[in-house]
Amino acid sequence: MSDSPNLETQVRTALSKVKDPETGRPLKKQIHEVDASETKVAVKVGLTSYANPLKDDFHKKVVEALQSDFDKHEVTVEIVEHDRPAQPKGQVGLTVKSVIAIAAGKGGVGKSTAATSLAIALKRQGCKVGLLDADVYGPSVPHLTGVRGGVTKVENKIQPLDFDGIPLMSIGFMVPPGEAVIWRGPMLHSAVTTFVRDTAWGDLDYLIIDMPPGTGDIALSLSQLLPLTGAIIVCTPQEVALIDAIKAVGMFRKVKIPVIGLIENMSSFVCPDNGKEYDIFGKGGAKEYASQDKIEFLGEIPINIQLRQRGDAGQMGANFDDPEIAPYLEKIAYNLVSSLAEKAAKSPVQAELPVLG
Ligand SMILES: Nc1ncnc2c1ncn2[C@@H]1O[C@H](COP(=O)(O)OP(=O)(O)OP(=O)(O)O)[C@@H](O)[C@H]1O
Ligand SMILES: [Mg+2]
Repeated sequence: MSDSPNLETQVRTALSKVKDPETGRPLKKQIHEVDASETKVAVKVGLTSYANPLKDDFHKKVVEALQSDFDKHEVTVEIVEHDRPAQPKGQVGLTVKSVIAIAAGKGGVGKSTAATSLAIALKRQGCKVGLLDADVYGPSVPHLTGVRGGVTKVENKIQPLDFDGIPLMSIGFMVPPGEAVIWRGPMLHSAVTTFVRDTAWGDLDYLIIDMPPGTGDIALSLSQLLPLTGAIIVCTPQEVALIDAIKAVGMFRKVKIPVIGLIENMSSFVCPDNGKEYDIFGKGGAKEYASQDKIEFLGEIPINIQLRQRGDAGQMGANFDDPEIAPYLEKIAYNLVSSLAEKAAKSPVQAELPVLG
């Protein structure tokens, strides 16, 4: 409790200059506690798990906002958890805040590696994340995560498998490994529908989708089922790969799926024998293209032998204990959430109306 209601109002006014990173709206209901006196201002401000990777930045912004109005006071800010469950999205009613597709113009550039790593990074930051392997032609997420098994149904909903607290779904759990499936248009659409509509994902902040290489069929099916926040394009730095990345960007723009940003994978190699850096596929090509085309550059991942070995061993989580690789993966997750927060600040999400019916 504050010493005077007037002082408390001043604190709340100062806090309203800070925007919630998730919605872009001024802080209001997220102000959990205000304790203000002639000498001190102490507040508890809530942050949703969606924006958890930005906790330090958010703390700094709240402190600065208070200090600018209360420069003679001792300011204390505690960030607490703010519960704001996701609302059902699209016609399928998935309860998720952001749906992010990881795609590329071609195969083998590291989409599945990037998608799995991004899901792990966000989960480790306290976000609620689901991982969907939408690569029906060559599902590799079961291999990368080491999660195996068949799916079960409870009350007509398919239960995703568990990958260290991340609900995970893949066609690989439904079709025996090595079995070739010839996918036709309607079958593709029905597989994607099963993934998003008939799977019990629970309440999610992020659904990360590992896309198959090439054509836009799956992207189109997905975008018909639910609004995608956007796509992240993975590419390698050499020029021929960039041509494919540019094509992928064009494809997403054509089907009206926003392109959130670019990840440059295999951007350099530090030789473990001599510590020298070699740019096997070149370096910085994707970054340069991103800046030319005004696409956000979300970060790079170097070529790393352990990264490949851990992928083959189903031990992707171990990359986060490796100082050679973890900072790159963490930075991509941080940049993604920052970029979404910037967009929300520019066009705040409308206050959620109660769901009828
Ligand atoms: N930065 C990296 N350093 C070393 N190996 C990597 C790196 N990125 C990916 N790989 C390896 O390259 C191979 C292809 O990666 P991944 O499966 O993620 O690509 P993809 O784009 O999903 O491929 P596909 O088009 O077949 O789905 C894997 O063996 C993976 O472990
Ligand atoms: Mg893949």
